[in-house]
Amino acid sequence: MYISVAIDGPAGAGKSTIANIIANKFDLMYINTGSMYRAVTLMALRNNVDFTDVKSVCNLTKSLEMHFEGNSLIVNGEDVTEEIRNTTVSNNVSNYAAIPEIREILVKLQQDMSNKYNVIMDGRDIGTVVLKNSPLKFFLTASPEERAKRRYEELIEKGTSVEYNNILNDIIKRDYIDSNRAVNPLKKACDSIEIDSSKLSINDVIELISNYIEDYIRKCNVN
Ligand code: CDP
Repeated sequence: MYISVAIDGPAGAGKSTIANIIANKFDLMYINTGSMYRAVTLMALRNNVDFTDVKSVCNLTKSLEMHFEGNSLIVNGEDVTEEIRNTTVSNNVSNYAAIPEIREILVKLQQDMSNKYNVIMDGRDIGTVVLKNSPLKFFLTASPEERAKRRYEELIEKGTSVEYNNILNDIIKRDYIDSNRAVNPLKKACDSIEIDSSKLSINDVIELISNYIEDYIRKCNVN
């Protein structure tokens, strides 16, 4: 039996930082599903394929071979890890991620990975769709201002020139599209544990989640 841990939440809630640390701690494969939607967006933008042209976006997506190497995402042999985080991709990704046919393709890939490895996945629909049967589901939140502040600091540290207000607006816009789309919207699964990280340190969140995972491992005697 494979362990699967689901982490959902809005942009900038700290999902990837937390998922990375938990992955190392419990020897799980970390699958950042957002980067897969970002990769589709990057390739579509490069090839001038608009999100309204669903057929072309589908064909393009099917032509992509994606796999993770540690924290890097490799697409058709190219390491796109850095480029998929740029602001053009961020500003467009929610439109591509709202296409039902694209979700179907990527969800299937994600589920295949969870059938082969012990995984921790973060995204928007992990607890509700991708790992619906996972016993370990977490929903990470924080206020939009706190999330924008974190994203701003992260980008500034990387040397990217950004405006706090633009980031806040992007986050609010993306939250809206992600939560209101027809297919697999961002939503807390009813059996998911909600953690508001606005006033918690990374270590606090790690400890909370670790306790649930350790409890589960003890009870089921997995690993
Ligand atoms: O890192 P950040 O939280 O800003 O976003 P991300 O996890 O990289 O995801 C980028 C976008 O992909 C989200 O805003 C969603 O539109 C989409 N996404 C999704 O629809 N479903 C997922 N499971 C993961 C991401």
